Amino acid sequence: MAQLQAQDLAQAVNDRMTDWQDPSFQQVMSSLVRHAHAFVQDVQLTPEEWMTAIQFLTATGKMCDEKRQEFILLSDTLGISMLVVAIEQARGAAAHTSKPGEERPTEATVLGPFYWEGAPELELGADIGAGNAGEPAYYHGRVTDTAGKPIANCALDVWSGDGEGLYDMQKGGDAGMRLRARFHTDADGGYRFWSIKPTFYPVPDDGPVGGMLHRMGRHPNRPGHMHMMLNAPGHERLITHLFVSDSPYLDSDAVFGVRNSLIVDFAAHPAGKAPDGRVMDKPFHTAHYDFRLVPTA
Ligand code: BEZ
Ligand code: FE
Repeated sequence: MAQLQAQDLAQAVNDRMTDWQDPSFQQVMSSLVRHAHAFVQDVQLTPEEWMTAIQFLTATGKMCDEKRQEFILLSDTLGISMLVVAIEQARGAAAHTSKPGEERPTEATVLGPFYWEGAPELELGADIGAGNAGEPAYYHGRVTDTAGKPIANCALDVWSGDGEGLYDMQKGGDAGMRLRARFHTDADGGYRFWSIKPTFYPVPDDGPVGGMLHRMGRHPNRPGHMHMMLNAPGHERLITHLFVSDSPYLDSDAVFGVRNSLIVDFAAHPAGKAPDGRVMDKPFHTAHYDFRLVPTA
């Protein structure tokens, strides 16, 4: 049996993989093997470092259950989730043949771990912020396709942490759903609802990923944002956020999710009449944003 040299090991592993039924699995696995071997060569990994890596991955796995997904957090904080989002959105845009004058679609960003299926379906204009920490904010705008055609009855899921940076899921006990809802756009593609102006908050940093961030000299914070997910038949699903323009950490989001096109001014208003006619007894904000969805190919 021929003895293999270190530099030939990756090729030997890939040559051993035969009987491919799935060409994309072949492409992914052989590339993974090549890059993993190149990485080990590049840093001249020691056995101690390899054991540390294995212990880190083991601890990461042990911190995964239906409430906490430390591997996704690892992917998020290494920028991989955002890279996958960007590749997927470019793929969707490439499949769509845009006509002259069409606008660019709204940019996507990470889903994050705090989406909770089954949020209440509410009427447009409802207030999901009342009773939660945070300054009131009125969100409004329109959903159209890239040609500017209004999209009626588009499902708009919204969710955020409160004015202290905490999501309902993090409150423990029986806090139940808070600060989340599903709305549907009106005949003109319009949407509007009340919530709070979200504040910055740290990603969960009490596990192995938090330890990694600390050793990297990185903070765990995300700038304030409202999560939005838009689903309309005949259009690509859009998962995105609206980022608060005066929030700290816009330049150093722990998960690299910020897109300039998603930064929104939360205009401040004194107590008084709001755009929907509601009379506010305390100061409030308004955030306006129009979404553009890509028609499916
Ligand atoms: C979030 O925005 O909710 C989030 C995204 C990635 C990791 C942790 C939290
Ligand atoms: Fe979030």
